[in-house]
Amino acid sequence: MTSLAHAATWDSATALLAGTPSVLDPAGDRAETIEQVWWILFAISAVVFAVVAFLVLLAVARRSGRPLRGPEARDPLWARVLVLVGGVAFPAVVLVGLFALTVDTLPAVSAPAEEGELTVEVEGMQWFWDVRYPEEGIVTANEIHIPVGTPVEVRVTTGDVIHSFWVPQLNRKIDLVPGKVNSIVLEADRPGVYRGQCAEFCGVQHANMAFFVIAEPRDEFEAWAGRMARPPGEPADEDAERGRDVFLEYGCGGCHTIEGTEADGELGPDLTHLGDRRTIAAGTIPNTRGWLAGWVLDPQHVKPGNRMPGIDIPGEEFQALLDYLESLE
Ligand code: CUA
Repeated sequence: MTSLAHAATWDSATALLAGTPSVLDPAGDRAETIEQVWWILFAISAVVFAVVAFLVLLAVARRSGRPLRGPEARDPLWARVLVLVGGVAFPAVVLVGLFALTVDTLPAVSAPAEEGELTVEVEGMQWFWDVRYPEEGIVTANEIHIPVGTPVEVRVTTGDVIHSFWVPQLNRKIDLVPGKVNSIVLEADRPGVYRGQCAEFCGVQHANMAFFVIAEPRDEFEAWAGRMARPPGEPADEDAERGRDVFLEYGCGGCHTIEGTEADGELGPDLTHLGDRRTIAAGTIPNTRGWLAGWVLDPQHVKPGNRMPGIDIPGEEFQALLDYLESLE
């Protein structure tokens, strides 16, 4: 289970970034229901396509040579019946049937979680995901940990424009609409890291608005939650301590929060437990020292249009800042 390792390595992070989540690889009951509908739609579409293609080819091959006008141009009765049945009645029956099938599926993928289950609040922002566990007092970003085999209610809203929260292997999409809280239930029946993606165009970096759902056994989840509910410890060494001062001196706290310090900005992702996360900038780059350095110096190069300005920090201070950020676990 290397994919569940706490720290992101280059390999695990790049594998995640490249991973393509598929509706056809479901990891829970709700996603399985959606997969079944997908296969039924695919099968019916394939049959209809084959029949229509066959009829078109047949029509081309058997041109009757009849004139286009005059009494002789009139189609025989069987041909008119075929058009009516094949062109109107049959599609109507198929479309109404498929509509009923999808409507029938909705309750199965929209069911509210039972009482007392875990609740996670997610706020979409251009372009990252703010993640909170109100009961547990956890604030993080772009990664949602859940215990395996437990329905988790995710309540979503947006801080700016419309986004859409989608983890193809766990459930359907749910839109994040201004002034409204929508909810969806995620439940994974096996441990794993499931990639999620914003599914509603929300600006130039819409494609780089990814997130991860990390499903882990209950005891591992509890250990994670316990660690996340505490502020990070005091910087371990002088460099990291200097790094904390650099963070505050350069005004990073105007946009970012780090619990236990004066930094309480809310424009950017909460960095209290940055070191816990696998990626930076909502699944855009791996969370390694090198990428972190590139990100802080020139975030507009990595993810053009995002709200973070590049900061020019002298080398020694910059290394201390990286030491500090890396220590936030
Ligand atoms: Cu957020 Cu697309």
